[in-house]
Amino acid sequence: MRAVRQPEGSRSSSPLSGRDCLTLAEFCPQEIQHILDQAEKLKALRKSCTPFQPLSGKTLAMVFQKPSNRTRVSFEVGMYELGGHALPLSPQELQMGKRETPSDIGRVLARYSDAIMARVFDHEEIEELAIAAEVPVINGLSALHHPCQALADLLTVHEEFATLEDVKISYIGDGNNVAHSLAVGCALTRAKLTIAHPEGHAPDPSIMEQAARLGASPRLTQDPHEGATGAQVIYTDVWTSMGQENQAGERKKKFACYQVDEELMSTAAPDAIFLHCLPAHRGEEVTAGVIDGSQSRVFDQAENRLHAQKALLYLLLN
Ligand code: CP
Ligand code: NVA
Repeated sequence: MRAVRQPEGSRSSSPLSGRDCLTLAEFCPQEIQHILDQAEKLKALRKSCTPFQPLSGKTLAMVFQKPSNRTRVSFEVGMYELGGHALPLSPQELQMGKRETPSDIGRVLARYSDAIMARVFDHEEIEELAIAAEVPVINGLSALHHPCQALADLLTVHEEFATLEDVKISYIGDGNNVAHSLAVGCALTRAKLTIAHPEGHAPDPSIMEQAARLGASPRLTQDPHEGATGAQVIYTDVWTSMGQENQAGERKKKFACYQVDEELMSTAAPDAIFLHCLPAHRGEEVTAGVIDGSQSRVFDQAENRLHAQKALLYLLLN
């Protein structure tokens, strides 16, 4: 979003109004807390079947350059529940970078809709789209960041432990988009993150430096057991992200000893929970026993995408 345009004399009711959410780092700790508090309120309203429709008449354009279940459905249902409308646009329709530039897509969609959510390959594509679009732009996953996932992750951890401060979270696996956003989210909420990754798959150093500036940089290790020991949250993601399919064979070998199995979970704290952003591959990054076991909160985490994003949409569009 280039500029926040407001009618003369009008006052926005939300301090987040008109802002973008591309990395989470655009928010300060108090703003992240505000989004999470709002998400808890909206979740409670939904559970009590109380309608809350502040986005009546508003439209969200949803740009998908990659497949999706959770992001697509939670944004569409979320806009509907808030009284608005969401419009999904497939890669075949928009053909970003081929039929039209990200910048032209952003400028045009901003003329029709009140906000844009985009799932793209290169992070630069969503940056270009956001600079051009004169409405809030939300990152629904890029190769570098997945901020909406991190909001749902933080909400899930907060629900479990009633705090985020000093909660020990261990992410085991690829230093990818999910790990990056978790690092930013933990820095802003003072959760203590460790990332255990294979050699050559560390998170991006520039994002780790950014996390350090925001609060704290994650502890990095290549030893999954050392990473998991005493953790209250064990988190993993796929070994091969969307767009890396040609590396799948080589990654399977390299990540084999980073599988989250029952033995690794036993090194965590006794009350530890297991998280995964999904989709998951049972038998690869996690065993069926762990993801389907009593410590797993992955479906609460998936549900929390809806509540966290409703809070974000409400605060950015209000
Ligand atoms: N976790 C997540 O973003 O899921 P989808 O890829 O299905 O949207
Ligand atoms: N790291 C994964 C997350 C999917 C939700 C990917 O980018 O494919």
